[in-house]
Amino acid sequence: MASAAPMSSGGSVSGDSAAIAAMVADTLFMFEVREKPQLVERALLVGVYHHKGDQDEAASLLEELRELVGTLGIGIVDALLVRAPKPHAKYLMGTGKAQEVIEHGEELGCDCIIFDNQLSPAQQRAWERDAGVCVIDREEVILDIFNLRAQTKEARLQVELARMEYSLPRLARMWAHLDRQGGGGSGGTGGAARGEGEKQIEVDRRLARKRIDRVKAELAEVRRQRSTQRKEREKLPVPHGAIVGYTNAGKSTLLNHLTGADVFAHDQLFATLDTTTRRLDLPDGQTILLTDTVGFVRNLPHRLVEAFKATLEEAILADFLIHVLDASQPLVYEFYQTTLAVLEELGAQDKKMIVALNKIDLIDDPARLHELEIHFPGAVLMSVKTGQGIDGLTRKINEMVLDRVGRVRLRIPQSRADLVAVLHRDAKVLSQEYEGNEILAEALVSAQLRGQLSQYIEGGAPRQPEPWEIGRKPAAPGATGAKA
Ligand code: GTP
Repeated sequence: MASAAPMSSGGSVSGDSAAIAAMVADTLFMFEVREKPQLVERALLVGVYHHKGDQDEAASLLEELRELVGTLGIGIVDALLVRAPKPHAKYLMGTGKAQEVIEHGEELGCDCIIFDNQLSPAQQRAWERDAGVCVIDREEVILDIFNLRAQTKEARLQVELARMEYSLPRLARMWAHLDRQGGGGSGGTGGAARGEGEKQIEVDRRLARKRIDRVKAELAEVRRQRSTQRKEREKLPVPHGAIVGYTNAGKSTLLNHLTGADVFAHDQLFATLDTTTRRLDLPDGQTILLTDTVGFVRNLPHRLVEAFKATLEEAILADFLIHVLDASQPLVYEFYQTTLAVLEELGAQDKKMIVALNKIDLIDDPARLHELEIHFPGAVLMSVKTGQGIDGLTRKINEMVLDRVGRVRLRIPQSRADLVAVLHRDAKVLSQEYEGNEILAEALVSAQLRGQLSQYIEGGAPRQPEPWEIGRKPAAPGATGAKA
C-alpha cells in the first residue's frame, strides 16, 4: 500500500512549525484548504447505496459525479457502484467490500478515491489510513468547483467560508503524516511525532477559527453594501424576475439572449456562481430586472445552500421566477424537483413561477415533447439556441408583471405639477403632451402609485374635485386625495 502524502498545501513541516505558526498567527495564515486538482490525477469513483430500490438513483448520481470530477480536470480510472446492505460505520460498507475497493484502486494505480456519498471526518480518516491515498466526497468536489468558479468578492468569501467550515473538523487528517513519521506508536520517537501532529492541529484550528471570523466580518460588510444597492433599486417601480434552475440548464444563455448581457455561459457545471442582474425592456415598453442565479444540483451540500443564501436572496426577493430546465435531459423531472427543494429551503417556494423547458432543439421525438407538455402544463417550450418559443416566454413575463406595473394614460391638471414630478420620479413616463389646461401622460406605474393616481387615470376612478375647486390647498406630492 502506498504511503499517505500530506494533503495540506501548507508544504513541509519542520519541528518548529507549531511555534513559528503561533508567532505569526495574526499576519500569516497557514491553514489552507488542500487543492485536489494539483494533487491527484487518477480518481476511482465510488457510489454506495444501501437498499436495492435505490440502485437507479445511485447510478445516475454516480454519472453526475463523473461530470463534476471531470469539471475539476481530474482523470477517472473507474466508477464503482457498491451495494452495502450492512455497512460498517467506519467504511460506509462492509470491511470486506472496503478491502476490495482499495485493492481495485491499487490495481488501477489510482491516487484518489472519490465517494458520491457524504463521508464523516472519521470515515474519511479511516479510508485514507487504509487506502493510503487521498479520499474525498461529493461535497468536497462541489466545494472545489465552486472555488474555481467564484468571481466576485462575495462569492469568493462565501466559498472560502464553506470550505474552511468543511475542513475544520478534518484538520486532523491533514497532519496525520506527522504522527506516522515516527511509526505512530505511543512510545519512543513515535510518541514525539504524535505530539508534533497534535500541536500542529491545535495551531491550525486556532488560525482557522480566526480566519473564519475574519471572513464572516468581511462578508457582512460586502452584504451590507449590496443590500444598500438593492434598496436603491427597490425604490423604482421595476419588477424583478430571477432565473433559477439546475446547473447547465441554459440560465446564463437565456439572460444573455434576452438582455444582451455578457454572462459566462459554458457547457460546464456551475459556470455561474455570481448573480448578475440586467435590465430587460419588454415589447410593450415595460422594463423589468432579470437576475441569473447559481445553478442547483442534487445533493447540493447544505453548507453551500447556506453559504449562497445571501446571493440567492435575489431569487427570494424577486417578484417571480423563471425556472429553466434542460428538457432534453432524461432526468428533467428529478432536476425540477431538486430545484423546487432548494427553493423551499430558501423560503422561495411560493413565488409565481414560469417553467421554461429549454433545449427543445435537441428533442426529435414529438411524443417526448407532448409528454413534457402534459407533465408541465402551462410551461413554455423553447430553445434559446434557435430562438424558438422565446416570444412565448416574453409574453409570460409580461403577464407576470401586469399586477406589479401597468401602463396607464393620465390626464392631470397643469396646476398639479407636483403629481407630474412624482410620476417622473417613481414611474416610467412613456409620453407627455399638453392639452388645454391638462397634461396627458402615458406611463408605466406601480400598483401602489396607480392607486394614488387613480382619479387621474383615463377610464379609472371618477376624478375628485381639485382642492382649489372646493377652496383648499393642494395636497403634498404623493398623498392620496385631499383630506376633509
Ligand atoms: P450553470 O452556470 O452551471 O448554472 O449553467 P446555466 O444554467 O447558466 O447554463 P448555461 O447558460 O451556461 O448553458 C449550458 C450549456 O447549454 C451551454 O453550452 C449552452 O450553449 C447550452 N445551451 C443553452 N441553451 C441551449 C439550447 O436552447 N439548446 C442547446 N442545444 N444548447 C443550449
